[in-house]
This record gives sequence, structure tokens and C-alpha cells, in this order.
Amino acid sequence: MSKQFDVLVVGGGPGGYVAAIRAAQLGFRVACCESNPYADPKGEPRLGGTCLNVGCIPSKALLHTSHLFEEAGHGFADQGIAVGTPSIDVGRMLSRKDGIVRQLTSGIKGLFKKNKVTLLNGHGAFVGRGGEAGKEVWQLKVGEELVEAREVIVATGSKPRHLPGVPVDNEIVCDNTGALSINAVPKKLAVIGAGVIGLEMGSVWRRLGAEVTILEALPDFLGVADVDVAKEAAKVFTKQGLKILTGIEIGDVKISQKGVSIDYTDNDGGEQKLDADRLIVSIGRVPNTDGLDADKVGLKLNARGQIDVDAHCRTNLPGVWAIGDVVAGPMLAHKAMEEGVMVAEIMAGQAGHCNFDTIPWVIYTSPEIAWVGKTEQQLKADGVAYKAGKIPFAANGRALGMGDPTGFVKMLACAKTDRLLGVHIIGANASELISEGVVAMEFGASSEDLARICHAHPTLSEVVHEAALACDKRPLHF
Ligand code: FAD
Ligand code: NAI
Repeated sequence: MSKQFDVLVVGGGPGGYVAAIRAAQLGFRVACCESNPYADPKGEPRLGGTCLNVGCIPSKALLHTSHLFEEAGHGFADQGIAVGTPSIDVGRMLSRKDGIVRQLTSGIKGLFKKNKVTLLNGHGAFVGRGGEAGKEVWQLKVGEELVEAREVIVATGSKPRHLPGVPVDNEIVCDNTGALSINAVPKKLAVIGAGVIGLEMGSVWRRLGAEVTILEALPDFLGVADVDVAKEAAKVFTKQGLKILTGIEIGDVKISQKGVSIDYTDNDGGEQKLDADRLIVSIGRVPNTDGLDADKVGLKLNARGQIDVDAHCRTNLPGVWAIGDVVAGPMLAHKAMEEGVMVAEIMAGQAGHCNFDTIPWVIYTSPEIAWVGKTEQQLKADGVAYKAGKIPFAANGRALGMGDPTGFVKMLACAKTDRLLGVHIIGANASELISEGVVAMEFGASSEDLARICHAHPTLSEVVHEAALACDKRPLHF
């Protein structure tokens, strides 16, 4: 006897759980199955996927604690606050982080109950197609149970990419999972990959006292960000003590009794060795279709192992959709959620849509880095005529009052129409400030639209305002 639903969502990460909730709100009978690598000791399912369990949320908890630690040690004195030399209880820091994860993951179970989404605890795998003509259903095995549904949303996420020949034990050599549970501040920490995880986790442990060296393969640092932002970030991070080496080729990596030793070739072809207590490997993530039996039903993957979808997340199979990290596009939780909502709404006959041009990016370092839209180098490559407005936080009273005047806001607008093409921020609270750029771009705003909007004083958002004015070469405070 099979269990029957209108919609089966495979995977309970941010893409999957949001899709399930939205589909249930729209009147579908919905189940979500989760294979649960993050189950608690009692075997209870843990929803939230990578994001809540070993990604966005725990990393931001550690970033916050380590930021406060650094402020107490180095920032307070400037403002006349003496607290002595702070010490860190790593165990307490980790258990606080684990508590936040527990609270949020169980909160999603509550949301499932509220929205009448059935949670199935087990790995989902395609079996085949059944049902009568005109009323076909997809059949999947979830654990030992057969489940049938008219529509299936695959939201199986991603997993860390490992380096061939570098064994991850999540003790000495960690991927993102182990990196979030290092139980003592390493004296020396090596990181392979100067991407988002490398910078965020490298910052956590540097702030807590580790000597951090990041080894990056590409010749340029942070090539995904706007060129000015990447330059400023390299300058600030280096000043903070993060050692970032680019153009590196990793050789042998060996775990020893003392820790780990990494052979690498540097920019000039010189053979080098780096000894460290711990190593974090953060060289990107790969789509996860493990055990899904996609081939059994002919579900098409592309050359990168992602499930092939169109702009509305339709796969090559009728009634099968795929969203989030397992499909193309940025591997971001909010992108996965947007796709989940879009698919549920299209299934309900609504005009679901996801604007991939206005997905914000944030790197939660200090200063934070955030952007939306095109970078200056992309506009140049595309041959688009643009104008730019760039204002430093050092010209802003609130930033000075906060003792945090690093960085700038850079705005890019079309030279002909003045339409906003990109907003790039490096500075305090960039993660929150970027929303103004996202909203403006969603509404098709021009830089003049932003320049004409009254911004509260004194706030950091005034720097966004001034950058808009600067697009027309008329800033008032710079
Ligand atoms: P996932 O979150 O990976 O969830 C997929 C779920 O499916 C998992 O729970 C998995 O167990 C389950 N599953 C897989 N196969 C099956 C199966 N066959 N049957 C049943 N269940 C299955 N993004 C941001 O936007 N902001 C951040 O600050 C941020 N920080 C991050 C920090 C780190 C350290 C990492 C690693 C990632 C971070 N990300 C961040 C990325 C973000 O976590 C992912 O983009 C997001 O989780 C993707 O959501 P998803 O639902 O597609 O997949
Ligand atoms: P990433 O793609 O951001 O960075 C990987 C880096 O490793 C790149 O700079 C790449 O050039 C480098 N690299 C690749 N192979 C290498 C090698 N052999 N030797 C040395 N360097 C090498 O991937 P990361 O940091 O692992 O994060 C994965 C994804 O998780 C991100 O792309 C992002 O989508 C998501 N994420 C998002 C966060 C956020 O939104 N704040 C935070 C953390 C992760």
C-alpha cells in the first residue's frame, strides 16, 4: 500500500521546506522527505538542510561571537572601555551555536505541523511512473515506504567538494561541517580556497587568535566581487592578519601526529610547505543527487552534475521540478527559497517568477561585503556604458560614531537611462544595507530615484543615498 500526496518534496533544506510550506498554503496535500544526515541522537529528523545545520546559521553564530571577542580585545579600548584581556570558552561558543541550530530546526517542524505538511523521515529515490492515463503519478521509495505524488520537487542540495588525495576526517582536515565544530583555537590554521567559506571561517578563527593562511588557486582574489571591493577586501583582511596567498597549486597533504602538512607551489613556481594544526578545505560545493536514482526515470543532469532545469525550474520530466543548490545558479539559501515559492505557485496555476538578476550576495566578514547586480568588470566586458558613484563610510557620521568607517558604497547605473545596474558595498552592516539596492533594482529604479528619497540621519544608509547622488556627480557630504 502506498502513501499518496499531490506533491512530494525531496529534501528539507531551505529550498525544500519553503516549497513544501508554500505548496500546502496553496491547498496541495504535501509531504517532504528528508534523509537526515543531521538527525539528533534520538534519530529525530532535523529539517533545514545545509543552511540551518552546517551552513548559514551556525557560521553566522560563530562569526558573531568571534566579532564580539575581537571588539572586546581591540575595539573597546578606543572608546574608553577597559575589560582586560578577554578569553574565549570555545565549548560554550559551540554549544550556543548548537542551541540556535536546535531551536531553528525544530521551529521548521512546527511550521510543517501548522501548515499540515507531512514529514517523512527517509531517503527519497525514484522508482518509476504509475497511475491511470491522464492521472499519472511519480512513485518514489522513501526509506522502505512507497510514496506516490502527481508532482515531485527535488531539493536535494549540495555537498562539499573534496580535493582528490586529501582525506577529510573533520578533526584535523575539515570541510564546512568540521570547520563549524573545531573544539579549540588552533595555533595555526590553513585554509584551502579563498571563497566565501574560507573567508568567513578563516575570519572566525583568526579573531579568536589563530594564525590563518589561506591558499587560493586563482591568481586574483575574490574575482566574483566587484574589482574595487575585492581590492579593498584584500587590503583590509591582510591588515587584520589573514594571510591570503593566490595562484597556489596544492601538492601533497599529509596528516601527522602534530597536525597537517601541506605542500604547495606558489605563484613563482617555488615549492613550499605549510605546517598547521588544522586545515579547512573550502573549494566549493557540488550538487547532491546521491541515491536519488535519477537515471531510473531518465531525469536529465547536465555536465556539472546539476539537475537540468529551465528558468522556471522544470526538469525534462512532466511534473518533476528541481530547485536550490542541486540546479544551476548561485548556491544561496535565499535563491533556493525563491525557487521553492516560484514552483509551488506555478503548480497552483499562478504566475510564479524568480528574478535571478536581483539575487543579493553577502559575505559576513568584517567589514561585510554585499552586492546585487552587475560588477564594473562585467559591464566593461559586456560593453555597457555606465556611470559610477562611490562614497566611503569614512564620510558618514554614524559610521564614525560606531567606530567602523572602513569601506564604501559603489553604485553603477546605465549611462543612457540612469537605471541601476549594480550596487556594491563593503562596510559595516552591508548585509542589511544591500536590501535597498535589491528593492530599487526590483522596481527598475534609476540612481536619481534613490537620490530623491529621504534617508534617515544619522544612518549608514545615507552612504547609499550619497552614492546615488555621486552617480550624478553631486554628492553633498563628500
Ligand atoms: P540543502 O540545504 O543542502 O538541503 C538539501 C536537503 O536534502 C538536506 O537536508 C539533505 O539531507 C536532503 N536530501 C538530499 N538527498 C535526499 C534524498 N534523496 N532524500 C531525502 N532527503 C535528501 N547561503 C546563504 O544564502 N547565506 C549564507 O550565509 C550561507 N552560508 C553558508 C555557510 C556554509 C558553511 C555553507 C556550507 C553554506 C552556506 N550557504 C549560505 C549556502 C546555503 O546553505 C545553501 O545554498 C542552501 O542550504 C541550499 O539549500 P537547498 O535546500 O538547495 O539544499
Ligand atoms: P566558493 O566557490 O565560494 O570558493 C571556493 C574557492 O576555492 C574559490 O576561490 C576557488 O578558486 C578556490 N579553489 C578551488 N579549487 C582550489 C584548489 N584546488 N586549491 C585552492 N583553491 C581552490 O566555495 P566555498 O567557499 O567552498 O563555499 C561554497 C558555497 O557555499 C559558496 O559558493 C556559496 O554559494 C555558499 N556559501 C555562501 C555563504 C554566504 O552567502 N555568505 C557563506 C558560505 C558559503
